Formats: sequence, structure tokens, C-alpha cells
Amino acid sequence: MSDPVKVLVTGAAGQIAYSLLYSIAKGDVFGEKQPISLVLLDIPPMMAVLDGVVMELQDCALPLLAEVIPTADEAAAFKDIDVALLVGAQPRRQGMERKDLLKANVKIFKSQGAALDAHAKKTVKVVVVGNPANTNALVISKFAPSIPKENFSCLTRLDQNRAQAQVASKLGISNENVQRTIIWGNHSSTQFPDLAHAVVHVNGKLMPAQEAIKDDNWVKNDFIQTVQTRGGAVIQARKLSSAMSAAKAICDHVRDWWFGTGERWVSMGIISKGDYGIQEGLMYSFPVQIGTDKVVQVVPGLTISDFAREKLDATQAELIEERDCAFSFLEA
Ligand code: NAI
Repeated sequence: MSDPVKVLVTGAAGQIAYSLLYSIAKGDVFGEKQPISLVLLDIPPMMAVLDGVVMELQDCALPLLAEVIPTADEAAAFKDIDVALLVGAQPRRQGMERKDLLKANVKIFKSQGAALDAHAKKTVKVVVVGNPANTNALVISKFAPSIPKENFSCLTRLDQNRAQAQVASKLGISNENVQRTIIWGNHSSTQFPDLAHAVVHVNGKLMPAQEAIKDDNWVKNDFIQTVQTRGGAVIQARKLSSAMSAAKAICDHVRDWWFGTGERWVSMGIISKGDYGIQEGLMYSFPVQIGTDKVVQVVPGLTISDFAREKLDATQAELIEERDCAFSFLEA
């Protein structure tokens, strides 16, 4: 057996982690032959809860789980890690304004950035899940200058999965018969779920999704709104935010980064190099393909309609505002 892959999960006593840890530890992400060392970071008041999670992981008697390290100490948590799944974040409390939320999270991700820079492997792959995910990812990358910018990402795979499932449901086909749904921009309600390049298999025939759907109003209105507001709809119904589906999406994101996507396109937040007119340095979700060398490349040459351009720019504008607000706290 090979050496364990060392995976840090923050927010490890929270509800996403509760689904996520089991999937990782049983081999859903790194393969069924790859031993895993799990490092679980949460804040000091959650250590008793975390102890319970550790007991449960032990009780699963999983063959691949080589060790579990629970901690509230960032330096210990980031030590020699291969993968950082940053799920923990400051949640929005009642009466809290957006800028207060940004301020609290800047503090967390600045501190974790320094720990990442000092202690992680330089090849570490970072996925930020905790909201506001794009801006948190940008902040941590800024404070870990020794880690290549290409190693930072944020999660928009849940949005992609939601988009894919909406199309499958609309056409009455299985999810695997829907490909190339794209999420552009921010993991927020300004994101642009785009079907212009999506393809579907219907009755054994591959065709553009929009041709199969034959309902422009649905594509341009209902579909986009449903995906943009799905997180809120889940909260409304469950009184808790998406956790099972978020954990599944994190697994999809990391597995594709680790092993490559082949011909498939997936969406992830990455630091823009200026593709599709998006400001360089912004953490923005693009359609990408990933090689077996783990190099992420934006799908090139897509035609962007006027309708799409407007949406790409609107979500970019929100990200610029979020970034500027977050960075203003760093200067203060
Ligand atoms: P939760 O509240 O159940 O768990 C969060 C955990 O993070 C708590 O145990 C908390 O103590 C911990 N935490 C807070 N500050 C921390 C720090 N500085 N270091 C380590 N741990 C810390 O929340 P849940 O449901 O697990 O969601 C986690 C985050 O993921 C939230 O910010 C949520 O908005 C976000 N999210 C993002 C999605 C995406 O697609 N990007 C989808 C769903 C949720």
C-alpha cells in the first residue's frame, strides 16, 4: 500500500463534514486502495463534539483510514497536508450585515493562510467551501504566497450538480446523460448557470441541451433562478443548509482534481488568468478540464452571447465588490 494522503477538513464538527468524512475515509475520493490520514480542525468549543465524530469514524472500522488527528491548533492541522478542504467558516448570524460576515471570515482565512504557507506541502490542493467561498479562497491564497496560485480553488460543483439535475429532471433522463452544464462566477445568487454549451443524450442521440429542451423561457428564467436560489430553498425546507449534497459535490471536485476529468467539463472557482474577459486575479468559477497531471485548464474558445456576457459581468462585479470590501479590512 502507498503512503497515506494527508487530508485536512476544517469545520470538522459541522454538518457538511459529518457526511464528507465518511465518504473520504471509505475511498470515494482518492480511490479504494489509497490509505487516508484525516486531520480534523475545529474551534476549541467544538472539541467535545469532534471527539464524538472521531469515535464514529473509528467505529466505522474502515480499512483505508490510517489515522485521525482532531485538533483546534492551526499549525498542527496544516502540517504536511496534501489536500485542504476548508469547510469551516463564520456563519451569518441574525442581524449581521454582509460586511461583518466578510470581516469575520477575512480574519479566519488570513490566519489559516499563514498556517498553510508555513506548514503544508507546497503541492497542497486547496478547496474552499465555507462562504463566501470565492472571496475566502482569494484571501487564503494571498496569505500563502509560497503555494502556487493554481493550487487554490473554491467549490461551485454543487451548483453544477444542481444545474445538471434540473436539466435531467426537465427532460426525464438520467443525470449521466447531461453534460457540460457550466457555472460562471460567484457561488452566490449572481452566479450564471449556463446551458448554451450543454449536451444531452436523448433516445441514444447526442444533441445540444437547449435543442432538446425546446423552451427558451425555461432556460433563460426558471432554470437559472432555480439553480441560483436552490441553497435558500433547501434552508427554507430543512431549516439547515445543504450538507449531504455539498459533501457529495466536494468529493466530485476533489476526485476530478486528483485523477483528471478526461473529456468531461467541470466547473470550479479558480484564480482568473483573464480568460473570457474576467479580471486577472479574481476567484471566479469557470468551466475547466483537468489532466492526469492535476493541471486545471479553462475550456477555451466558447462563444459568449450578449445574454451570457451580461451575466458573466454581473457576477464578476459582485466578486470585485466582495474582494475590495474584504481587502479593505486587511489594510485597516
Ligand atoms: P456548520 O455550522 O454545521 O459547521 C461549520 C463548522 O465550522 C462548525 O463546527 C464551526 O465550529 C466550524 N468553524 C468555524 N470557524 C472555524 C475555524 N476558524 N476553524 C475551523 N472550524 C471552524 O456549517 P456547514 O453546514 O457544515 O457549512 C459550512 C460552510 O459551508 C458554511 O460557510 C456554508 O455556508 C458553506 N457552504 C458552502 C457551499 C458551497 O457550495 N460552496 C454549500 C453549502 C454550504
